[in-house]
Amino acid sequence: MDDNQESLKENYRFRCHVGLFCETIRIAVEEMREIEEVLLFLKDLGRKHRMYGATPTYIKTAGEGIVYAIDRKLGNEFTRSMKTSWKKFFTILQDSILEGLEFG
Ligand code: HEM
Repeated sequence: MDDNQESLKENYRFRCHVGLFCETIRIAVEEMREIEEVLLFLKDLGRKHRMYGATPTYIKTAGEGIVYAIDRKLGNEFTRSMKTSWKKFFTILQDSILEGLEFG
C-alpha cells in the first residue's frame, strides 16, 4: 500500500463518504421493489455529484470497488452467478447516477 492509499484510508471526509456510499447501496437493495423511485433518487444524486467534482470514471471505479470488496469479504461464497447479479444491479444503479452527472 503506498502513501496515498494510506492517507486516504485515514482521511476523515473519505471515511464519512464510505458511510454515505454504503447507505445508498443499502437503500437501493431495500427499496428494490420501488426501483423507479430509487433510480430517480440516484439521478438526482448524480446531478449533485457534478458539483462535488465526481467524474464518470470515478463513479464507475466506485462500482467496481464494491464488487471487489464483496469478493474479498466472501471469498468462495461469492459465487459466479452472485457476482454477475451484483454487477448487473450496480450497472443499473450506476447508469442513473451517470445520467444525472452527465446530463442532469
Ligand atoms: C456511486 C458512487 C457514489 C455514491 C453512491 C455516493 C453517495 C453519496 C451520498 C449519499 C452523499 C450525501 C450527500 C448528498 O446527498 O448530496 C455524497 C456526498 C458526496 N460525495 Fe459521493 N457518492 C459516490 C461517489 C462519489 C465520488 C466518486 C466522489 C468523488 C469526487 C464523491 C464525492 C462526494 C462529495 C465531495 C460529497 C459531499 C460530502 C462531502 O464533502 O464529503 N462521491 N455521496
